[in-house]
Parts: sequence; C-alpha cells; structure tokens
Amino acid sequence: MKNRIINILKSSPDFISGQEICSRLGVSRTAVWKHINILKEEGYVIESVSRKGYRLLQSPDLITREEIGKYLPDGIPGGEIYCYDSVDSTNEEAKRSAGYAPDRSVFVANQQTAGKGRRGRTWISPKGEDLFFSLLLRPDIPPESASMLTLVAAMAAAEVAKRYSRESCQIKWPNDIVLHNRKICGILTEMGAEMGEISYVIIGVGFNLNRMEFEEDIVSMATSIRKETGERITRAAFLADFLAEFMKRFEIFLREGDLSPFVKEYDSHLINVGKEVKIVSRQGTRIRTALGINEKGELRIQDELGREETVFTGEVSVRGLYGYV
Ligand code: BTN
Repeated sequence: MKNRIINILKSSPDFISGQEICSRLGVSRTAVWKHINILKEEGYVIESVSRKGYRLLQSPDLITREEIGKYLPDGIPGGEIYCYDSVDSTNEEAKRSAGYAPDRSVFVANQQTAGKGRRGRTWISPKGEDLFFSLLLRPDIPPESASMLTLVAAMAAAEVAKRYSRESCQIKWPNDIVLHNRKICGILTEMGAEMGEISYVIIGVGFNLNRMEFEEDIVSMATSIRKETGERITRAAFLADFLAEFMKRFEIFLREGDLSPFVKEYDSHLINVGKEVKIVSRQGTRIRTALGINEKGELRIQDELGREETVFTGEVSVRGLYGYV
C-alpha cells in the first residue's frame, strides 16, 4: 500500500486529492492518511493542504535493497546486496559474512561507527550523506594480483564521479579519487588467503557524495561532489552506476589476469603523470617524476638522470611536492 501511494505521488506533478488516491486504491481516507504519516516518518517530505490534497516534495535518500534495485533491476549477477542502517565497518561486516555470502556481494551502510581508512586511519562515516560499501569477491587469481583490483575499482570510481560531477576526476595513485585537487573517495582493499590461495578479496569504498562539512584536520584535503557542484546525489543510483562500471572492468581483468588492457585508461586519470612526487618509504623520502603505471599497477617513476624504476602499493606512499596531490 505504502509503495502504491508513493508511486501515485511520484507520478503526480501537482497536488493530488486524498479522494483521488482513495478511489485509485479502493481504500478509505483514513487508511491513506495513516500511510502518508508512515511515509513522512520514513523521511518523505509530503505537503498536505486542505481541499488540495497531497504533494510529494522530496524522497529520502535511502540505502535499501529496494531502492538500490530500482537502479539495478537485474541485481548483481551472482551476488547479493546486504544493507545496514549502521555497522562498525562494511569491510568488517563483509569479512564476518565471507563464510556464506556469495561471490560479488555488496555490503552497504547508511553509517559506519568504526570506518577504516588505509594505514590504520579512521574513515569518518556520518549518517545519511555519503556512501560506504564493500565488495566481497572470490577471484581465481594469485594473491599477489589482488592489489590490482584496487586500481580496477579506482577507474570505475573515477568514471562514475565524472558522470555525476560533470567534471573530469583524477586518480592519485594508487586509489584516491580527486576532484578540484581534493579527495572525494578512498578505497581500502583487504584479502583473506589460505595456503597461497585467495579465500576472498574485500574492496571497501568510501565516497564523499553529499557531506558539506569536514573535520578540521582533513578540510584542506577532502571534499564531496555536492560541495563542489552544489547538487545532491542519490546514493542508491550512484552505487548502482559504480557496480555496473566495476563489474564491466572486473570481467576483463579476470580474463586478462592483469591491468594491461587498462594502462591507458588508468594513466588518463592519473593526476601524478609527468609531475614530481615525493616517494615516502621506510628507507626515507625521494623526489621522482611519475610516468604512469605498468600492467601490474605499479607506479613507474624516473630520477633526474632518466633512470626508471617501479614502486608498488603498500611499499610507498606518494605525495605531491606541495601538499596532498
Ligand atoms: C582510504 O584511507 O583512503 C580508504 C578509505 C576506505 C573507506 C571505506 S568506507 C567503506 C569501507 N569500510 C571501511 O571501514 N572502509 C572502507
């Protein structure tokens, strides 16, 4: 009943009378009124004016299977969608569920209470604004290839971010997505392996979509798509688009076994190309020119004498000479 009322309100550009809704659904006015109140409690903004009826002003930005399904009618082939109002971390939830959840499942939450970033950092994940999700994958690839999947996810993320911001979004190697020189998305990949075989790979993605305020320590480095464009993004639609872009590339990656088909695409997004970067490793810091990635997703760098070497994710962190990018 609730859904039918919502569909009627959505298809009515102006007010629709309570009487009209009653006769379309064959129910009493009291029943309609009761369901309108439930919808308001769920976050729908519905204007009611006597002698005019009801008008839908705003739908809530829900993270539910039903809502995501609207934008992904065929679901994720093989996978499941698990939605939570609040979890500690979707990566942790995916790990806990790895025993039964099918390959290619996605775990998405409205809020994380202990969101994890890379290098042991916290990923602040407030309710209702941004997108926090993890993909559970069981690819038949050697464990040393798993980190390449992070770059596959980064390309899908950059593509979708570009579509919604209508601006080109860059990748800061290996997997930060950047808009106007500030980070809008981070990716944390974790792996479970036994006897040299992958049990699962979890790709956790945090997208700053609608948040307008950032904590003092990250405000100079982070932004959201809405903060940059002024437009609110429907999270379920964005997630569905990401999943479609990711799965397309994931199939190609599984077929090829490495990133060779993607080097050009990845490098076209890479913010560091041709620029001097600070390579920070356990051995210290060195300045090099970034050239692009190779088929394994390693960053190719060059010293002042033109000598080339590669660095891999986990080994180093890359910084711009004058700040984050
Ligand atoms: C980074 O530090 O850039 C990576 C951030 C990854 C955050 C996402 S949010 C969804 C998933 N669950 C987590 O706890 N972390 C990842």
